[in-house]
Amino acid sequence: MSNRLPVDYEEGPDGQIRWKSSPGGLVTALEPVMRAADGAWIGWTGVADRELDPFEHDGISIIPVPLSSRELEEYYEGFSNDTLWPLYHDVIAPPSFHREWWEAYVRVNRRFAEAAARAASDGAVVWVQDYQLQLVPRMLRESRPDLVIGFFNHIPFPAYGIYSQLPWRRQVLDGLLGADVIGFQRAADAGNFSRAVRRLFGYSTRGTVIDVPDADGGSRRVVARHFPISIDAAGFEEIARRPEVQARSREIRESLGNPETIMLGVDRLDYTKGIRHRMKAFGELLRDGRLEVEDATLVQVASPSRERVETYRQLRDEIELAVGRLNGDYSTLGHQAIAYLHHGYPREEMVALYLAADVMLVTALRDGMNLVAKEYVACRFDEDGVLLLSEFTGASDELRQAVLVNPHDIEGLKDAMVEAIRMPRRERARRMRALRKRVRDNDVANWSRSFLETLTGAGIIAPGVPDP
Ligand code: G6P
Repeated sequence: MSNRLPVDYEEGPDGQIRWKSSPGGLVTALEPVMRAADGAWIGWTGVADRELDPFEHDGISIIPVPLSSRELEEYYEGFSNDTLWPLYHDVIAPPSFHREWWEAYVRVNRRFAEAAARAASDGAVVWVQDYQLQLVPRMLRESRPDLVIGFFNHIPFPAYGIYSQLPWRRQVLDGLLGADVIGFQRAADAGNFSRAVRRLFGYSTRGTVIDVPDADGGSRRVVARHFPISIDAAGFEEIARRPEVQARSREIRESLGNPETIMLGVDRLDYTKGIRHRMKAFGELLRDGRLEVEDATLVQVASPSRERVETYRQLRDEIELAVGRLNGDYSTLGHQAIAYLHHGYPREEMVALYLAADVMLVTALRDGMNLVAKEYVACRFDEDGVLLLSEFTGASDELRQAVLVNPHDIEGLKDAMVEAIRMPRRERARRMRALRKRVRDNDVANWSRSFLETLTGAGIIAPGVPDP
């Protein structure tokens, strides 16, 4: 179960309902798993005030959970995306704490838990995804103690000093501790979680195992550890090898005026992504004459996201002001400094862009994983292209051969961009080979397999033996 279903709801002019597979990190990661398993996916349809019956889509059984427009505001836009999201991303934006939002979060989590309790067969495995549903594991365990329950947090879990700001910090931890296995992206996230459990509940933790006291005086073992998520690497490479995708990538280069270097940013339009930092650095390189607009273009794809949340509205205005200024100052009639695209694109077009990009810029200020970095690497079967990657992404734990940057350090970011642009071919190939091996060896199938194996094996690990 996840807040958002893997399909998007569309209503035709005739009132006909259509479902479209939706792109996005979480969906990309889980679709192949769901297709292979005889499972049901429980989630919200993306529209408010619609009660929809369960249905099948592309071989996946879908169980929609309804949200009212008030719940959309309070549970989704409010508590999930204006309280938890900024808090868990190191308060890059200030989180808002509202009691009504919390109450809606509890109510909606209960609705999801009830839907799972109805759908799951005896002893079934239920895998709950992400921060929108942190109370579900406990609620589900109470109504269905027979189930095996996993939870995976796709975003960072913050250090205690930040987490402890949450007025409902005990309730959220308790909700999560209803799971048998709690997965995180990085070892540091799992460590932050275990520390919070020790500080707030005093439960004992040994390595990745937490002993959670139960009602009858015994205790349950909960595993909290990292399982870095990944992508369908072979699927991306297959698209990249298609002749028409390669032709499209050449066409993109030409339409940009054949600059020597194309730099690319691909993000949801989110303040965690460091889009302003990368534009500032690029603008200064043009201002200082270290780059010329004829030689280097920045393509920034910023897909629309959470547009009714005020912080996101403000960010869009700021980014678009900066793009306008930069283009006004540095573009010529034949060469644009920044090509800014406020759209989502189909996967084929994204792959063509990845192939066209000499330098991929991932400058997030905080990011659970960042799958764009892995997608870029997976597509570069030509062993060319340079990945510039923020140290504050989960991906940087694995992708050590990227050009690693601290995006807050604008001078360092500028130097890293120049280093990436000027990197000799042999060095680019050496790094890309190592990066590609890493992404191929740890793809999304490995991720789900290792999580599910830990989950289904969780009950049989002998007490006192730390999980490997
Ligand atoms: C992140 C979250 C996902 C979320 C996605 C898109 O990747 O971890 O849970 O679905 O962003 O955000 P949205 O609010 O549109 O679902």
